[in-house]
Amino acid sequence: MSLDLSQAFPLNDNIVYLNHAACSPWPRRTAEAVQGFAQENLTQGTKNYPQWKLQEIQLREQLQRLLNAPTVDDIALLKNTSEALSVVAYGLTWQAGDNVIITDQEFPSNRIVWESLQNQGVIVHQAPIANTPDPEAALLALVNSRTRLISVSSVQYASGLRLDLAKIGAFCHANQILFCIDVIQSLGALQLDVQAIHADFVMADGHKWLLGPEGLAVFYCHPEQREQLQLKQFGWHMVEQLYDFDAKTWQVASSARRFECGSPNMLGIHALSASLSLLAEVGMANIQAQVLDNSRYLLDALAQCADIEILSPLEDNRYAGIVTFRHRKRDSTNLLGHLSQQGIVCAERGGGIRFSPHFYTPRAQLKWAVEQVAL
Ligand SMILES: Cc1ncc(COP(=O)(O)O)c(C=O)c1O
Repeated sequence: MSLDLSQAFPLNDNIVYLNHAACSPWPRRTAEAVQGFAQENLTQGTKNYPQWKLQEIQLREQLQRLLNAPTVDDIALLKNTSEALSVVAYGLTWQAGDNVIITDQEFPSNRIVWESLQNQGVIVHQAPIANTPDPEAALLALVNSRTRLISVSSVQYASGLRLDLAKIGAFCHANQILFCIDVIQSLGALQLDVQAIHADFVMADGHKWLLGPEGLAVFYCHPEQREQLQLKQFGWHMVEQLYDFDAKTWQVASSARRFECGSPNMLGIHALSASLSLLAEVGMANIQAQVLDNSRYLLDALAQCADIEILSPLEDNRYAGIVTFRHRKRDSTNLLGHLSQQGIVCAERGGGIRFSPHFYTPRAQLKWAVEQVAL
């Protein structure tokens, strides 16, 4: 890794940033891309719009590579993860009695949207996945002949539990069940191959492990499912004849651009593209190895602390970038306040404190953070 990490991530010396599962700090190049974009807008408006369009194409290509999507046409740029989940939930045609299976640990985005279909007769089953060595089996045990879709987070936002996506995907593929994955807690931290896991729908906003801003998300839709999703939003940008403003007839774009009804988020595109260029430069294999190594370090170090109970899974392949724990003698809100005073940025989740360092977090900072917890 030739990148100078302290140059690339010039966080203040008094900040220990362990909150990538919430919102990431921007790398230097991302801040510079935004500053450059602002300066361009300030001094010459949209004169360089053709160049900006190239940046947009580049971002789609970066995302295609990150997901290993078959083609760039399978990638749509949406506002956030929740919007992408809604595009799927409200794009599919449901019959009363159909069911959707999720886990009982999902972030509200991946529960509420399915529950909202209850007025169409859709039933939501939540698989209990805590305290079982085989959470995939718990999920698949709920499948019956009316199961249309399984929707999970690749990594649970609170416990940090990582699911075996290939296993669930193979089952769905063999049983004609749609497979939808919210990858916001793993994309940018772990490698992903949407084809290998037989994903039908995949979504993630850019502000967590992707190191980008809020409000620009990737949505992957398997090419065979694209036509199955009814469109609920319409506008000039989702038609095949883009920029032919005089045309009186129109067709829906054949690509996933059909899910993008209006003007793109050019500011976000400049920022996220810069962030993804850093991830690509380091390489997702290196990033994954370092993220897992950081979590392993935290799990081992916290296990040495007498009063700490670790709430995240300890087994290899079951954790990713999130380590959640609680202090047996100290209330979590109080402990969070103490950590915050020490400059440790983290969160209270899942009945404890959630640490989520990224690949670049220095080991000395992790060591220091664990010492503060144990104090
Ligand atoms: C698993 C998961 N899904 C979705 C979200 C929210 O995503 P968005 O704001 O992009 O809709 C979060 C945010 O914490 C999350 O952890």
